[in-house]
Amino acid sequence: MSSGQLYDTIGATYAVTRRTELRIAERFWAALGDARTVLNVGAGTGSYEPPGRDVIAVEPSAVMRAQRPAGAAPCVAAVAENLPFEDQSFDAAMAFSTIHHWQDPLTGLREMRRVARRVVVFTFDATDTGWRRQFWLTRDYLPEVADLLVGRPSLTELARAIGARTEPVLVPWDCADGFFEAYWRRPESYLDDRVRRGVSVWSIVGPEAERRAVRSLREDLVSGRWAERNRDLIDLDAGELGLRLLVL
Ligand SMILES: C[S@@+](CC[C@H](N)C(=O)[O-])C[C@H]1O[C@@H](n2cnc3c(N)ncnc32)[C@H](O)[C@@H]1O
Repeated sequence: MSSGQLYDTIGATYAVTRRTELRIAERFWAALGDARTVLNVGAGTGSYEPPGRDVIAVEPSAVMRAQRPAGAAPCVAAVAENLPFEDQSFDAAMAFSTIHHWQDPLTGLREMRRVARRVVVFTFDATDTGWRRQFWLTRDYLPEVADLLVGRPSLTELARAIGARTEPVLVPWDCADGFFEAYWRRPESYLDDRVRRGVSVWSIVGPEAERRAVRSLREDLVSGRWAERNRDLIDLDAGELGLRLLVL
């Protein structure tokens, strides 16, 4: 499936649960420094477009482009791996929660580096099994996630491709953006079909794995087994789920 096709298939209800998480956004925007012109690659509906700067968006999916609100930055239909811009034409290039979908993330990152002086990316380490063993959702209910990440570049390889540094990003317990890890302290949320439809993982693992995971989670919530196993999470305000910023 090509870059835009997945979100043309699954993206129609994206904006129902996917919106700006301001605490993460402010950290991300700070990393953009004094950049005045910003290219937002894999921009989707534009949740993380920084206010007060000149933004151009790139988004391959027509379904996602159609959900951009009135007044959002102008959006070009293109892919990260082949950005239709001159060398060094932006102060900064950004990518939020998208590079795991790119067919060739290393080429996409080098393209961002080519068109901009500064690069800021929000992503995770696909090869780090540590967080997947720790996060109860992947550990106890959806181990199939590991198969989705086979062959993807590690965080170190991503960072090395553009000479970026990495910084951990904790997820607030009440995170407003419904990405995969967002509900780590609100397990009931994963029982809600609207929540799952806003996250590509659930569609990619297929209906059988999804049904099994949801059924099993529901049983464990009712029986108290989830609470028993995860009692250490209840007092945390923010969780380490392996999410990272790459900053150049
Ligand atoms: C999870 S959404 C994130 C959207 C937005 N950045 C956000 O944080 O809400 C991933 C987006 O990446 C886009 N995408 C997939 N492959 C891409 C590629 N090769 N180049 C650029 N964008 C891509 C998808 O169409 C989708 O809109």
